[in-house]
Amino acid sequence: MADDPALVDAARDAIRAASRVVFFTGAGMSAESGIPTFRDALTGLWERFDPASLASAEGYEADPALVWGWYEWRRQKVMQAAPNAGHRAIARFATGGTVATAVVTQNVDDLHERAGSRAVMHLHGRIDHFRCNLCTFEHTLTPSERTAPLPPPCIACGGPVRPGVVWFGEALPVRVLDHAWRAAERCDVMLVVGTSGVVYPAAQLPLLAHHAGARIIVVNLECSPLTDMADVCLQGPAGEMLPALVAAL
Ligand code: OAD
Repeated sequence: MADDPALVDAARDAIRAASRVVFFTGAGMSAESGIPTFRDALTGLWERFDPASLASAEGYEADPALVWGWYEWRRQKVMQAAPNAGHRAIARFATGGTVATAVVTQNVDDLHERAGSRAVMHLHGRIDHFRCNLCTFEHTLTPSERTAPLPPPCIACGGPVRPGVVWFGEALPVRVLDHAWRAAERCDVMLVVGTSGVVYPAAQLPLLAHHAGARIIVVNLECSPLTDMADVCLQGPAGEMLPALVAAL
């Protein structure tokens, strides 16, 4: 349980002995910042909206105004949110010591960056980035373009601009995936924070690290299927568990 000091000690000892640490985070990392997760009953996005119609190329082509408006709603939630103590603990750890640290996230928000983490690997893209759905030209949009009922046309080819995120059925950004894969295969410890571990290929990362001999520390409100391979499962909110763990190092 969250208040079992022996578990925190075991996690602390594993990290102290490590020379390479990866933080692999999911929506639970940003939950205490007020950003909805995906699968948590009632509050999760996918509990209330149909992902296939909102987070897919088909859904976007069928109803661009609906998808464009939904992502702007999510983007506003991100902009209104602030990094929580968990984001700050990871940034403190990553920038403060001698341990090579990588932050790989499934989240499309920029809270890790706003807390001070650098070179964050976004496997599913960034909700505040935009690109053309046809030629992939990257765009910076004004607030009025972002809040318009429909996206602006691409300035390079006239195609429809879309959010710079990965949609269901789409490939993950190859270079980011390659870097994340290598970080997972080379790390000594991977902290798996706030993810249900059900969406592949991202969910492959903890398995890769585990098979490469890394110690796996899960931080989650509940023990998930991921816990089966975890060396330590710290059950509790990331915003409490991570600061306590970093303070104990
Ligand atoms: P989920 O909503 O599937 O899972 C959130 C996880 O965080 C659950 O295991 C919760 O128990 C846990 N959790 C909730 N609040 C927490 C807290 N305060 N502290 C610690 N843990 C907490 O979100 P993800 O696993 O991130 O993909 O979902 C993975 C992907 O599925 C997302 O990136 C998205 C979605 O489809 C795309 O959009 C491509």
